[in-house]
This record gives sequence, C-alpha cells and structure tokens, in this order.
Amino acid sequence: MKTFPENFLWGGALAANQVEGAYLADGKGLSTSDVQPKGVFGEVVERVAGDSGIKDVAIDFYHRYPQDIELFAEMGFSCLRVSIAWTRIFPQGDEQQPNDAGLAFYDRLFDELASHHITPLVTLSHYEMPWGLVKQYGGWGNRKVISCFERYARTVFNRYQHKVKLWLTFNEINMSLHAPMTGVGLPETSSKAQVYQAIHHQLVASALAVKACHEIIPDAKIGNMLLGGLVYPLTCKPEDVFRALQENHSWQFFGDVQCRGVYPGYMRRLFRDKGIELDITPEDLEALKSTVDFVSFSYYMTGCVTTDEEHNKQARGNILSMVPNPHLASSEWGWQIDPIGLRTLLNELWDRYQKPLFIVENGLGAKDHVNADGSIQDDYRISYLNDHLVQVREAIEDGVEMMGYTCWGPIDLVSASKAELSKRYGFIYVDRDDNGNGTLNRSRKKSFYWYKEVIASKGATLKE
Ligand code: BG6
Repeated sequence: MKTFPENFLWGGALAANQVEGAYLADGKGLSTSDVQPKGVFGEVVERVAGDSGIKDVAIDFYHRYPQDIELFAEMGFSCLRVSIAWTRIFPQGDEQQPNDAGLAFYDRLFDELASHHITPLVTLSHYEMPWGLVKQYGGWGNRKVISCFERYARTVFNRYQHKVKLWLTFNEINMSLHAPMTGVGLPETSSKAQVYQAIHHQLVASALAVKACHEIIPDAKIGNMLLGGLVYPLTCKPEDVFRALQENHSWQFFGDVQCRGVYPGYMRRLFRDKGIELDITPEDLEALKSTVDFVSFSYYMTGCVTTDEEHNKQARGNILSMVPNPHLASSEWGWQIDPIGLRTLLNELWDRYQKPLFIVENGLGAKDHVNADGSIQDDYRISYLNDHLVQVREAIEDGVEMMGYTCWGPIDLVSASKAELSKRYGFIYVDRDDNGNGTLNRSRKKSFYWYKEVIASKGATLKE
C-alpha cells in the first residue's frame, strides 16, 4: 500500500479577498481587489458609498471562521493556507503605524487554527495591494512601494512570530504579466517595460521579506509562489519545442530569481532584444541574494504553444490563452485537465531548484447541483483531485521532496478571474449565488467525506 510521508501537510488554501468579506470593517482600507468587482481581469471601478460587489461579503469568513475551521479540522486538515489582507494592517499602505484592529483579527484566526492543531501557511500578498499605494504612487511601478511592503512584512513577522512558521511572499507572482493591475497595481495598458520594472521592484521586495523573515523568525521557512503553467510544444517540430522552452521561461524567470538570487541570461537577452532598460541598482542586486527556502506553486492545467499562427488562433478559454491540447479534456471553464502534467512539473521544479516543493493550490472549478435532500454528489471533483494526488504520490516515489498539498478553496469562495460564486471548488458548500442571494449556510458535499478518508489514510484510499 503506497502512502504519503508522515510529515506531509494536508489541507486547503484560501485568499483573504475571496473569502473574508467585511471589506471596510475595523479600519480596513480599499485594496485593488475591492476596486475590481468583476475579478482580476475586470475593469477598475472607483468605489462609492453604498456600492456593492460580491467580494464585499464574499463568504463572510471574517465572522464565520471559527465554524469553518471546525469543519476543516473535522476533515483532518494539518495545514490551512490563508493570506493577510495588507489593507487590514496598513489601510492606505504608506502609514508608519499599523492598524491594531486588523492585527487583532489575524491573532484570533491563528489562535483558532492552533486550537485545532492546524498549521497556518500565510501568504503576505494574494492578488491585492492597498489601492492607496496605486493612487498615490502608481503601484509597484514606484520604488517607494518596496519600503511600504517591507514595513508591512516586518510588522506581521514581528507580531505573529510565535504563531506562524510558514510564509509565502507574493501569490502567483508571474501573473503580473497577464493581469498587471492585480499583480503590480498597473493599468492593463502599461507597456512591457513598465510591467517588468514593477516586477523587478516586487522581486526585490520579495527578497527583502525573505531576509526579514529569517532575521525575525529564525525557525520559520519562507517560500515563493508561482503559477505553475507548464507549456508543451504542440508538435515535435524543433521550432515548436524551442517556443515551448521560451514560454516556460516566461514564468520560470520569477522562480529563477527567487531561488538563485540573480537574473537569468535568457531574461537579459529578452530585455536587450526588446530594448527594455530596467532601473536596477547595486543595492537591488544585493537584496536579490536572499533566496527562498522552498518553492510553492498552483497547478490547474497545462496548454500548448506552436509557431503555426493558424493554430495559435485557437488559443482561448484558459487564463493563459494557450493552444488546447487535443489529448486532454477541459473543465466547464475551458481549463485543460492534466494530472500527469503535475508529475512532470514536480519533477522539473525539483530538478531545477533542488528545494522542497509545496503544492499550495490545485482543484476543479465546477457548478454543483444541490439535491432535494440537500446532498451534493460531486464525483467530478473527487475524480479530479484523486487523479492529481495519485501523480503527486508518484512524484514523491520519483524522489521529489515535498512539504504538502493544500487544495484550492476547500470551502466555496468567490473565484478570482471573474468574481463568480457559481464556480465552486469546495468540499464545503456555501449557500450564496452570483448575485449575492443565499443564507451563507455551510454544508458538507460528498467530496468532504472522501478527502477526510484520504487524509486519515495518508493517501492509501486513492484509486490508481
Ligand atoms: C489562482 C489564484 O490563480 O487560481 C486563486 O491564486 C484563484 O486566487 C485560483 O481563485 C482559481 O482561479 P479562479 O478564477 O477559478 O478562481
């Protein structure tokens, strides 16, 4: 019987802006997520009093977290990934002193987790930054934001040093190339040079957070977080193979800087070819040398690239606009399902970095049907997760060092791309629809009992 290692962490992953709601409670300021009510690719809408978006309440985790954590504990979670909303701590982003009511909320949250023996894995910035920093300074395009972030990071490291020993810097840091407002607080119309400059500032801030974490909490581990967007060549034509290598470089670049502490040669060439000259100071280069302890990533799908422009026109449906793989089926949202790709990616990341890996997001967004008796038979979700976990176990057998697995959205939440509630990932159903109607009551789906058994058996109940 094949089982996962004893110390493997099992659980789920959440993001503040997709679950908490309470978007102005206890002194919180507006974030970029609050001004993008239609999701990470949606327009920026300046908020006016009385306005409401689905994320303003989300699933009301801000008030209901004790009940939700009890359900996670019932499933046997040993880990919960959450994020801190930067705007609860520094509402505008550039204050000198933090907001104590915001700090107190996360104290209560971490205490609740501790009382259930659940280890928190905390993301410093998950798809949001203070809107004040965007309006006032132009987001990460401005170097000044680095020091604001460092102050925020140092504040939370100091405050939670005895409660949180696992940290992540920026969620899916490579997504800035596709969603600049969400990633770096820049308008979608920004030039590539502006986006790469902002990314450079964020990479420096990430490294400074790593350094601060090591100084303040010596027994903590801090990782990066990549969108693991593995790309295949559509054919074995050498041109397609090289195109796929370049496409993979576009996200590996972030991991390469965060794990190796220097800009890779292929990026220096890309900047040269595109005539991009970044403002990189000697202090920046020194800061980048603080590298992460482990590599975390999300994994939902794979896609293909080709040099054949006719095929490229088919690119659609998935957030990275990749050419569909004819050998794979897709989710209702057009995300191509590829469990073996996860094993490939785990092996590639391990070969590349030789640092422990943590899968901090994986899952199937699907519409659920509630039966008359209240039950939800989500076999499609069970099958997706089962098949991916089988490949994780194979990768461990291949020799990949793994820390754990937190699937995305163990409780239904507001989706990031389009701010929908009908795209559900959870083992726990939340009674709320896309228009905000519903009681917000929680109930267990079939997958709840399935995941509980998987965790209790350390993966032995998975079906090959
Ligand atoms: C990742 C994000 O991109 O994918 C999450 O880190 C997001 O915030 C998840 O929710 C799934 O995407 P979506 O659009 O289905 O919510």
